[in-house]
Amino acid sequence: MDVQFRDMTVDRVKTDLLILPVVERELDRSPLYVFDRRLKGKINERIRKAKFTGSEGSTLFYSTAGIFPAANLLIIGLGKAEEIEPDTWRRVAARARKEASAVGAEEIAFYFAPARESENAAAAVVEGMLLAAYQFTKYRSNSKPAGEVKSLTLFKPGLSRAGGMQKAIREVQQTIPGVLLTRDLVNEPPSVTTATFLGAQAQRYCRGRGLSVEVWGKKKIESMKLAGLLAVNRGSSEEPRFIVIHYQPSGKKKKRVALVGKGITFDSGGLSLKPAKSMETMKLDMSGGAAVIGAMSRLPHLNLNVEVTGYIPTTDNLPGGNAQKPGDVIRYLNGKTIEVLNTDAEGRLILADALALAARQRPDYMINLATLTGACVVALGPQVGGLFSNHQWLADQLTRSAREAGEKLWQLPLVKEYREHIKSSVADMKNVGGPHGGAITAALILQEFVGDVPWAHLDIAGPSFAEADSALCPKGGTGFGVRTVLRFLSSL
Ligand code: BES
Ligand code: ZN
Ligand code: ZN
Repeated sequence: MDVQFRDMTVDRVKTDLLILPVVERELDRSPLYVFDRRLKGKINERIRKAKFTGSEGSTLFYSTAGIFPAANLLIIGLGKAEEIEPDTWRRVAARARKEASAVGAEEIAFYFAPARESENAAAAVVEGMLLAAYQFTKYRSNSKPAGEVKSLTLFKPGLSRAGGMQKAIREVQQTIPGVLLTRDLVNEPPSVTTATFLGAQAQRYCRGRGLSVEVWGKKKIESMKLAGLLAVNRGSSEEPRFIVIHYQPSGKKKKRVALVGKGITFDSGGLSLKPAKSMETMKLDMSGGAAVIGAMSRLPHLNLNVEVTGYIPTTDNLPGGNAQKPGDVIRYLNGKTIEVLNTDAEGRLILADALALAARQRPDYMINLATLTGACVVALGPQVGGLFSNHQWLADQLTRSAREAGEKLWQLPLVKEYREHIKSSVADMKNVGGPHGGAITAALILQEFVGDVPWAHLDIAGPSFAEADSALCPKGGTGFGVRTVLRFLSSL
């Protein structure tokens, strides 16, 4: 989708569909009257009859029948002025994008007159349109391709001078493909997305200036003593992989960041088998790894001056004949041992290796993304990710990046006292805690492997997968985390 800016008045725009956002109960302040004068009050009449108030997402479609250069008008409500935020623009744009597809409009125009923060709002409109166009239909025999919007013109008198706006929009255009790639990787069936497949996809998509990918096979994983990954992989007939993606920017004096993503391509629970219902969506369990691939794949395009290494331990978690058993003990490369009492708490087992390995490089910051605990979903619900950190500045920066990106993160505490809950009778710790505070226990186990490196753990078990369609994302993988991480990296 090509984005252009035009400095022009509303009645001059030639387009298939002209989108006019209006504020609830302030319809008289919109440029609607320009049209209505020439249409002799017909739009006002429609508004009255339809009792259209401009509440968020409400729409009114009007064909201009050749009276204006714009073939059709879509009047769309933004809701109450005081409640409009960047996500409002994203949702409204998404809705408009769907209406455009429905009428086969290829060239659309968006009247752009937000009250404040116009740069963010314009970028949010573009973002909403790009996210809303996503579909995952390769396994449907009867899917008809949605109408493609080829160009979007943002216009209002005086708009073309907006340089900051163009930059914000370019960033969005370079970021969203990473989100959509992540959605694709998550939505793919779990017998397609094996560890081997994930490695191959990383190699395929992480190309470009400064990017390189290494995919370690079982031999190398053994020689590197990644004991947690090998333990979880024992129940599977698929080989594990350890993916390392490196981005080396050309500039000097840069920060070094490690990203670590959980790559369980299917979580059956292992011998501590999950009930059938809980297993239905467990292809989502590589969402953290997919988000790392998605984010890394965009680094050359965003041209960031940060050195970034992505680490993705990946395997499925199955209860095959050689599977690890409750009671087994894993010895890690940093010398620490974990007694495995529940094989369904496997994410922390494979992340421990990766965090220890990444921490050895002494990065300035280390961030891991993982669909780690059902407890985090209980605590924060399906839309909010849990954030844990040993470094408050990093936590604050990530919270802010998430807010700006339109993703929700909420910090939860690393409660030292709860270390009691993971004491083991035979090893340094066990892999499960007590009945309460499961998201915290899991985070405390991860913390044992990061040393003193500034680190943040994002538990994305809730927001990485949508249980129902929404304006910005169909049911399935959401690509959560990619936008936040890329914003954070570009803020360094
Ligand atoms: N992959 C799951 C966590 C999960 C649950 C992700 C729901 C997305 C939605 C993880 O490996 C797991 O099974 N965790 C257990 C831990 C427990 C055994 C201590 C859980 O949360 O129940
Ligand atoms: Zn599990
Ligand atoms: Zn899991």
